[in-house]
Amino acid sequence: MYLNAFEREMLEGRYGAGTATAMKVLVAIGEAFGAEKMVEISRAHVALSNQEADLWFVEKLVRGGATCLVSPTVNPGFNLEYFQAASSLEPLDEATIKRTRDAYRAIGATLTYSCTPYLEKNIPRPGEITAYSESSATPYINSVYGARTNRESAQSALCCAVTGRTPLYGFLLDENRRGNVLVEVEAGLKDDFDYQLLGYCVPKKAGPGVPVFTNLPGRISPEALMNLGAQLNTAGAVSMYHIAGVTPEAPTVEDAFKGEKPLKRIVITDYDLQETHDSITAGRGKIEFAMFGCPHFTIDQVAEIVRLLGGRVFKAEFWVLTSSLTRELARRMGYLEIIEQAGGHIVDDTCIDQPCWRHLYGKRGVTDSPKCAYYAKRRNMEFVIRRLADCVEAAVRGEAD
Ligand code: F3S
Repeated sequence: MYLNAFEREMLEGRYGAGTATAMKVLVAIGEAFGAEKMVEISRAHVALSNQEADLWFVEKLVRGGATCLVSPTVNPGFNLEYFQAASSLEPLDEATIKRTRDAYRAIGATLTYSCTPYLEKNIPRPGEITAYSESSATPYINSVYGARTNRESAQSALCCAVTGRTPLYGFLLDENRRGNVLVEVEAGLKDDFDYQLLGYCVPKKAGPGVPVFTNLPGRISPEALMNLGAQLNTAGAVSMYHIAGVTPEAPTVEDAFKGEKPLKRIVITDYDLQETHDSITAGRGKIEFAMFGCPHFTIDQVAEIVRLLGGRVFKAEFWVLTSSLTRELARRMGYLEIIEQAGGHIVDDTCIDQPCWRHLYGKRGVTDSPKCAYYAKRRNMEFVIRRLADCVEAAVRGEAD
């Protein structure tokens, strides 16, 4: 592929071994996808996982002297100080999160530790070329903002951040942003939770592609769009969709397909959503904890919990994961105090898929997020999946209907 003089110097090691490694990775990706050249990026987000391979790679770049030309925001690991106080950590967990923090600080990342950067700190304009990893982020960037990113891994996004470049292929090109699957939604979507089920259901039914949704309401909340993208990407690696009349590249259905005919057409009914729900949830019964914020909850979602709680207390352990900004807003607005007085927690900088949850391994909880249930399975946590109002009731009673 073509590289300009600066890119060639990066590849040849003029700016250090770390930058050379990053450029080598990007050239390999570019050649694998037939990219003709690199393009500059204006933003990046790295879905750090705080796991061994992630740490190995970022430390390798740091040892090679790499720093980011474009400072990326980063995903959560876990909040060390919070869980040290709760004393559920093992020495290796502490050592790993400390090394992760040090490595990302050294490479010049912006330490947001949030999986919803597209709602708070890292918001692109339409058409911007970016490099985002994180499953709820890439569909939001492409679809809701009309900016452009491929479905980056944590490592490829980090390489893009270091070099300020990404290979020109995939969703960066007009022709790949065209819709090719028509999704006619006949199901009645009652609240944001139903967008979780819709997102989970569509790739299972339609297979791979760029879905174009029709018949959805004209006003859809940011949380519903966040849920839709998170589940589309978790269930089917879908990083771009259109909603006719809502998302910027689809003022009409015809615009979304750019004059072509859809390759496939599917209809989503109430039965489909029910069937999806039944296939991913554990059955009713006793629960020991409730978990929210996968992806991180917004302040409106925290407010909704407080409204639903109505001054009662929780019987089950109750956790809300969010960004540091939202937690601070919750404190200022009195929500944090209300939830803590009910026996719950709002914790920032933390992901469900982390070893800080060891005390919940082998237990059964309730959540409104299929993604949460999906990732926590490998940690032997089982989830009843319900809409938010039913989750709060379950946490108050210690039992899910
Ligand atoms: Fe966020 Fe972790 Fe879920 S990064 S979306 S809380 S799996």
